[in-house]
Amino acid sequence: MKNLVLYCRAGYEKDCAAEIQDRAAQLNVGGFVKTNVNDAFVVFQCFEDDGADTLMLNLPLNSLVFARQMFAAAELLSNLPEQDRVSPIAEALSELTQCGDLRVETPDTNEAKELSAFCRKFTVPLRLQLKKQQILLNKENPKRPIIHVCFIAPGKAYVGYSLSHNSSPHFMGIPRLKMAADAPSRSTLKLDEAFGAFLTKEQQEKRCRSGLNAVDLGACPGGWTYQLVRRGMMVAAIDNGPMNEKLMETGQVKHYRADGFRFEPPRKNIYWLVCDMVEKPSRVAELMEAWAINGWFKEAIFNLKLPMKSRYKEVKVILSTMSDILAENNIDFEMQCKHLYHDRDEVTVHLWLFPEKGVNYA
Ligand SMILES: C[S@@+](CC[C@H](N)C(=O)[O-])C[C@H]1O[C@@H](n2cnc3c(N)ncnc32)[C@H](O)[C@@H]1O
Repeated sequence: MKNLVLYCRAGYEKDCAAEIQDRAAQLNVGGFVKTNVNDAFVVFQCFEDDGADTLMLNLPLNSLVFARQMFAAAELLSNLPEQDRVSPIAEALSELTQCGDLRVETPDTNEAKELSAFCRKFTVPLRLQLKKQQILLNKENPKRPIIHVCFIAPGKAYVGYSLSHNSSPHFMGIPRLKMAADAPSRSTLKLDEAFGAFLTKEQQEKRCRSGLNAVDLGACPGGWTYQLVRRGMMVAAIDNGPMNEKLMETGQVKHYRADGFRFEPPRKNIYWLVCDMVEKPSRVAELMEAWAINGWFKEAIFNLKLPMKSRYKEVKVILSTMSDILAENNIDFEMQCKHLYHDRDEVTVHLWLFPEKGVNYA
């Protein structure tokens, strides 16, 4: 297929476009981007007929910052007839066989979401027809490709597939997280989402568990600390502001009224470092580098506030500077960065130091 459709947050199309253009070029896949402001999706149209298939195979979704989901798509289907939208969609998908799942989606905009009820209903007859033509398996299969039908307007849809091992498991690429009634702030969802985005369930069981020590820089009122406490960790919460009282009553939190840029952990037994201080991104990055060089943590999750313009370029520069500095200091690491659903004008970074050595800091 020729088109790669990428979902992103509305208003971030330029960043998503700059990123896919850059990454496709690195893989020698030529093409150009089609996008409109606030559409919440970007289409990278490849020059080669199988360009999008090549990208699906070689470009990991989790290495892209601004894309929530991506799929290879045929040409845009327009003017789908009201009386039979199923047949042209099934026809456009006819080169696929034995897919494992079907998602009838929309981009994440208020206008497009008005089509959600239609999409839900339409899934039923479309699924029946796709099964009849053996494009879709009779039983869902999480290891087979996923069919995506994305209605961008009534009667207008991109249709195609993603590969199950290189695709978001979530409908529209958006995890549905419940805000706990006793969580101190809504930003609690950011860290909850980050753990789910950067670590598999099995990795979370091993590496986000009771007995580990954590530091939360810029912790008040305690939404991120809440997530660490919920996972059984002991937390040093650094902030001059007040912490949520119920969280303090758990006995798992020690509150330090201190400057997060000067704080030094008294004992060097920290596994997780998390940081949500609203500060210049380069300053936060330097702080994370300093902690890494000092060997004061094993894994970190931190936010980088985004500038108004050239957001992709800025993030790329910060991450590559950080990578260079860690490498110069002989620090082996894995790093991922994502514009999460619960992030607004910021991205979230996960940094795992010496991943292969599996040092146990418990
Ligand atoms: C976005 S809020 C953090 C919200 C928190 N993660 C939560 O989920 O409740 C940013 C916090 O960083 C704190 N902060 C900003 N600069 C700081 C600094 N230099 N040292 C310590 N805390 C700082 C602010 O006081 C504020 O409470």
